[in-house]
Amino acid sequence: MSGLVPGEPFDYRVKKDGLPVFAARANRARPTSDQAYRMVIFGDCAEDTAWQKRVAYQASLLKPDSVLITGDIVYPHGRASEYRSNYFPVYGAEKADPKRGAPLLPSTLFIGISGNHDLAYSNLAKYPDGVAYYYYWKQPLNGWGGAESGKVPPIKGSASEFRKAAGNAFPSGANYSFDYGNTHFVAIDSNFYMNWQDPKMVEGLRKAITANPSATWRFVVLHVAPFHSSVSHQNEQWMRRLAPLFEETGVDVVWSGHVHNYQRSYPLRFRPSAKRSANGTVDGEFSLDTTFDGTSTTKPNGVLYVVTGAGGAALYKKPLHAGEGTSETEPFTAKYDADVHSLTELSVSGKTLSIRQIDENGAEVDKWSVTK
Ligand SMILES: [Fe+2]
Repeated sequence: MSGLVPGEPFDYRVKKDGLPVFAARANRARPTSDQAYRMVIFGDCAEDTAWQKRVAYQASLLKPDSVLITGDIVYPHGRASEYRSNYFPVYGAEKADPKRGAPLLPSTLFIGISGNHDLAYSNLAKYPDGVAYYYYWKQPLNGWGGAESGKVPPIKGSASEFRKAAGNAFPSGANYSFDYGNTHFVAIDSNFYMNWQDPKMVEGLRKAITANPSATWRFVVLHVAPFHSSVSHQNEQWMRRLAPLFEETGVDVVWSGHVHNYQRSYPLRFRPSAKRSANGTVDGEFSLDTTFDGTSTTKPNGVLYVVTGAGGAALYKKPLHAGEGTSETEPFTAKYDADVHSLTELSVSGKTLSIRQIDENGAEVDKWSVTK
């Protein structure tokens, strides 16, 4: 949409065959770099669960300027039919109701990042309306990758209808960047078929992260959490190998999901070991800034990794070191909450990030801030 006044509400109409079929008021056009903004972030959500609806309801109470989904947007297989049964009815519910969801979609910008449930069920012979991510999202097609084999979802089955529907969104639409307020966001596909060790891919990522030198904040959003303390998905640590690049390019926060709970790390630096382990883990050397507490000490030395994947699918409760005595989580984890579904409220004002984790009943689970 063009001609909008940044930071202001606007009215819009949707036309079909030249006739208006829908009209609504959007609560806020994209803010400029000197305007504050508030964003709700969660992932692993549209499974048509009571938890998803309560989280959607809580999101609406916060009246966010935008909603960012950290992947696994629809369950279980990323199909168009699942958007229609699990996504649109909940985030586009007629009224805000914890039993149904909330009318967020007509008024609020939604930003979707791809997860494994969105892109990895790419056998069209089995799921003919699968990989719907590529036709339900209008991403800025400024990404990279995809030209070489092994860096796109392996589409199987007859793909002509899919390609027609997806157009040029496939395959670059899963890797993109954009500016919102004073923040530069980079969304990347973290699925198994990606090779983020490929020098060309890394170069593309470096360029994407550093594309706006005047941005105050730099965020990376990827689905498969590089660092987390849950038992589930411990053998999927491949994204850890990008940690040195994130440190070098001044990434402030890496937001992810995949792990169905809420976790935040201490600011950290990580040197991955060159050795490949057989079980999918990536060992290395950590350096942690444990003086950062997000309240009295708010200037981090290192990158913060946040898992916010408690948006609706069943929780992963068990911490990695459960029952081991001292700490149940990894040393890099500063906060771990797997007891309740929740969302992240991110408020950005100039050089301050204010972050709250709000649970499905509206209670505050965590509160912290970052300053520059
Ligand atoms: Fe996932």
